[in-house]
Amino acid sequence: MGEYFGEILQKALSRRDTLKLALFGGAGLMVGGFVNSLAKTSQPLSFKTIYPNSEDRITVPEGLDYKVVIRWGDALDNGENLNWDAIYEDGPTDQDIERQKKCFGYNCDFVGFLKTPDGRVLLAVNHEYTNPELMFKDFSAPTPNQSKLMLEAHGLSVVEIKRKSDGSWEYVRNSPYNRRITGSTPIEITGPARGHNLMKTSYDPEGKEVKGTLNNCAAGITPWGTVLTCEENFHSYFAGNRDQLQDDLVKGIHQRYGVPSTRSANYGFHNIDNRFNINQEPNEAFRFGWVVEVDPMDPQSKPKKRTALGRFKHEAAMSVVAPDGRVVVYMGDDERFEYIYKFITKSRFNPNNRQANMDLLDEGELYVAKFNDNLMGEWILIAKAEKNPDGSYRITPNPNLPQEFKDDPALCFINTRGAADALGATKMDRPEDVEWNPVTKSVWAALTNNDRRGTSGNSPIDYANPRANNVMGHIIEIKEDNQNPASLSFSWSIPILCGDPNSFDPNRKLIIYGQFASSDVPAISAPDNFAIDRLGNVWIATDGNPSSSRLRKNDGVYVLNPFTREFKMFLSGAPGCEICGPEFSDDWKTFFCAIQHPGESGWQTRWPYDGTANVPRPSVIAVWRRDGREIFA
Ligand code: FEO
Ligand code: CA
Ligand code: CA
Repeated sequence: MGEYFGEILQKALSRRDTLKLALFGGAGLMVGGFVNSLAKTSQPLSFKTIYPNSEDRITVPEGLDYKVVIRWGDALDNGENLNWDAIYEDGPTDQDIERQKKCFGYNCDFVGFLKTPDGRVLLAVNHEYTNPELMFKDFSAPTPNQSKLMLEAHGLSVVEIKRKSDGSWEYVRNSPYNRRITGSTPIEITGPARGHNLMKTSYDPEGKEVKGTLNNCAAGITPWGTVLTCEENFHSYFAGNRDQLQDDLVKGIHQRYGVPSTRSANYGFHNIDNRFNINQEPNEAFRFGWVVEVDPMDPQSKPKKRTALGRFKHEAAMSVVAPDGRVVVYMGDDERFEYIYKFITKSRFNPNNRQANMDLLDEGELYVAKFNDNLMGEWILIAKAEKNPDGSYRITPNPNLPQEFKDDPALCFINTRGAADALGATKMDRPEDVEWNPVTKSVWAALTNNDRRGTSGNSPIDYANPRANNVMGHIIEIKEDNQNPASLSFSWSIPILCGDPNSFDPNRKLIIYGQFASSDVPAISAPDNFAIDRLGNVWIATDGNPSSSRLRKNDGVYVLNPFTREFKMFLSGAPGCEICGPEFSDDWKTFFCAIQHPGESGWQTRWPYDGTANVPRPSVIAVWRRDGREIFA
């Protein structure tokens, strides 16, 4: 695109150019057959907005309360809590490492609310990564025990919770559903990459089972009640020297995914297990970067890495049932200039037989998105995977792919980024959550930021990523043809370009549906995860407000009403935290979220100040209205 973003905006705002007005979701315009109609009867957001702040506490609007539900180190069994203060002062003992396997993990991210058949309530919570600089007084070079504790603090927790009479929630110790899955839990590899040569290691010569899941960022709940937990920045854990690898294919794919990473020094996993050294186990990194399906209803069940959904830095995996019964899973690859994907199952969802759905995600078609400058777009097939009766796979790659993907079609799933590059997909500004909104019947995608857009050697701006040096981020709405998630073409618009309404720089200014936001609208940057409420309001959790290049305020939760176009701030977090896992209870009366890494990047806090801890502790909180009404009422 030859124009500067400001020129596009100018045209949009002057209403001389209908196409460009539509870029921002202009009302009533026909774009590719889609009418963005305003629902005049929709319910306005009733709560009084708060504003970004730097206070050392959680802030919620008037009339609401919040309370911590569970924190890092809280015991899920009947044993002792983790001894977080002693671990900080003296480092972890062998016993502490054993306790971490039974205690709530670090850096909670995704939060999923589930009901068991016998009416109990469970939370499934991801533990994305660890902050050695906050967990340990002496962290400069992790000791083996520090590394072992951190490996066990990763993964996810399933925990039963109960509501109390005052509207708060507490977790249930020793519930039969409580479970930890960590960086060392055995996990089965399923789908088209199972048993592939690149999936084999010395400890697993058949390429069928991995130790653990790592960097579980966001996730999604399937229509059959399993959790799709997503491995995001898995490269962070691998050390070694890529130039010393003999195999050019291995070397090339590792390079495309940033393996190894200098971040591995913070974790030191390669010091406790050779599998994290790419020179000792060149293939172990291929066994991460997947969507992992966990059945929280069966604590004995073995989690499964579903390779048909592709390998990349998975932010989340949000599913929806298409009108014909096939299940569509939307996914973002969170790195600068990466892609938005979707997977369509081969078979149909069976609402009457849970068991019949348990392997639905092993067969289907993987697509990547191309956003055209005419505000239309298409889903480009990467490959189709089907299972033979003997368990082997028939893989049909896109015929336009280079020969290496035709010769070895499982590479479409192992080197998904390479396949998407070859097919000309659109490089986006760090795709985070991509989620179907059942009320607007459209897909919402968060593009958190990209400070390299338009810089030398990188992709220039385009209509879908219209800001150079996009530090504030934006949100795209994808309108699938016929409002059918299984469609292969769509139109799109940009409801929000994030920023501060009081900025004078159009690149940093908050723009909602093409209009400069008025000065009383709260500033927002770095949108990350969504939750959609019963009315179709889009709840947006942020990860990046505190940065000196953005708002220098705490991260928060914001709500966009896509019908009235109101935009308010609902919650402000603790210093240095990001907010993750926005989620609702099934009666919509509680809002849950994760307060991840309070105190990161030098922000001073010991939140949640629970009286027993001298260190900050990542936690899940619940928010409710004192009048007992639905949270958005
Ligand atoms: Fe882990 Fe993309 O956030
Ligand atoms: Ca995220
Ligand atoms: Ca994030």
